[in-house]
Amino acid sequence: MTVAADAQTIINVSRLRNKFGVQVVHDQLDFSVRRGEVMGIVGGSGTGKSVLMRTIIGLNRPSSGLIEVFGKDTSKLSPRESRALQARWGVLFQDGALFSSLTVAQNIEAPIKEHTKLSKALRQELVDVKVSMVGLPADAANKYPSELSGGMRKRAGLARALALDAEIVFLDEPTAGLDPIGAAKFDELILELQATLGLTVVMVTHDLDSLHAICDRVSVLLDKKVKVGTIAELIREPDPWIEEYFKGPRGRAAETAKTHTAPHISGAAMAEGATRTAMPEQREAEQI
Ligand SMILES: Nc1ncnc2c1ncn2[C@@H]1O[C@H](COP(=O)(O)OP(=O)(O)OP(=O)(O)O)[C@@H](O)[C@H]1O
Ligand SMILES: [Mg+2]
Repeated sequence: MTVAADAQTIINVSRLRNKFGVQVVHDQLDFSVRRGEVMGIVGGSGTGKSVLMRTIIGLNRPSSGLIEVFGKDTSKLSPRESRALQARWGVLFQDGALFSSLTVAQNIEAPIKEHTKLSKALRQELVDVKVSMVGLPADAANKYPSELSGGMRKRAGLARALALDAEIVFLDEPTAGLDPIGAAKFDELILELQATLGLTVVMVTHDLDSLHAICDRVSVLLDKKVKVGTIAELIREPDPWIEEYFKGPRGRAAETAKTHTAPHISGAAMAEGATRTAMPEQREAEQI
């Protein structure tokens, strides 16, 4: 019996191998995500976080291994089944990855147009709902991505990822590049959506504050495999990278910030965004 037979498991990856030329990125990697959880993915630069995400959503064909989403082996789907599966998840790529020649509304409408036969009026209504769902002002809908701030672009990207009522959202570094207040607000939005829509969230991040604030479990890419657990469990792992990451000064600061702002990100915590451990630029720089 595979793990996917468990109704709780929404994504099951087993014995995954990814190889580019002579470089082996993943080797016999096992990874699974439960319905409704927020799963963080961390690891040093180049350890294969983005490749793992891209492999699950079918943008990268693995050298070998099994990928099951909603209990279906993704390598055995017809093009039609594959499209149906794609409509059940949303993806927020780094930088929002919006089409720059389309307005926010047109960006959000794109997947609706592609996957449904809804009328123009209904599509428009859906777009309006999604725009307000992610906390964007109504007039943002008619703007082009270049006319928005970084935080607004992330929200617009999220609105597009949720356009089709996704059950799973994949987020690649959603808070990178945001100021601490913007990042805390984005975390809060993800949590709110997860709680109200019952979303399952898979989030690649370098942001320790996000990990502490919103992730139920965290997967650490190490030695071409994944170590998974709650932060409390991972901290007990005798691994130098994990120790440095979670128990180093920034890890401890994030832990303290979480203790002081529980539950999750409160309004007060957002008001004093400085409780986040460092400016994103610093956080990014230190990871390189
Ligand atoms: N299409 C590809 N062809 C060749 N090599 C690739 C390809 N995609 C990824 N790689 C390599 O696989 C490794 C993992 O890349 P990946 O983008 O998953 O890293 P990452 O963990 O997301 O890093 P970062 O934190 O810097 O974003 C890197 O060494 C990268 O160069
Ligand atoms: Mg990456």
